[in-house]
Amino acid sequence: MKKILRWSAIVLVALIVLIQFIPADRTNPAAEAEVFAPDEVKNILRKACFDCHSHETEWPWYSRVAPVSWWMANHVEHGRADLNFSRWPLFNFESQKHLLGEIEEEISQDEMPLKSYRIGHPEARLTDGEKEILLNWARAR
Ligand code: HEC
Repeated sequence: MKKILRWSAIVLVALIVLIQFIPADRTNPAAEAEVFAPDEVKNILRKACFDCHSHETEWPWYSRVAPVSWWMANHVEHGRADLNFSRWPLFNFESQKHLLGEIEEEISQDEMPLKSYRIGHPEARLTDGEKEILLNWARAR
């Protein structure tokens, strides 16, 4: 039994070391055209949404450790694909209106920022006042 435990531990450690060689894409492409919004709106977007929905992602130290790195890179990849504040003005008016509608929906249902993200980012937990500001902005579309 002891032997099995020891070998399991060795295999586990070896696996953790090995997976560090499988890289995650942590790139921040150049910002092309930033979202146009009043400062009070932009400040909230910047602290609560930009890590996954812009090219200005801040990658913390734990984003370098697999498998967390894969998981985070995946969030950023899908977040940017759905909604990218660094490319906002490149979308036509209809797409912007559609995205504002999606933002209204996500905020009013308390879906964004992702719950897992709020744990390590207390500043991204939106107060009722901040939600109100985002909702008013999104509804003015
Ligand atoms: C930790 C990463 C992360 C943060 C922070 C984050 N999002 Fe997202 N967001 C995602 C991911 C991933 C998706 C892709 C869809 C999904 O998995 O739910 C997404 C999707 C969306 C969508 C599109 C939903 C759809 O149905 O097309 C909107 C709108 C959105 N987020 C708004 C926001 C807003 C507004 C904020 C800030 C208040 C925010 N998100 C913060 C990760 C994030």
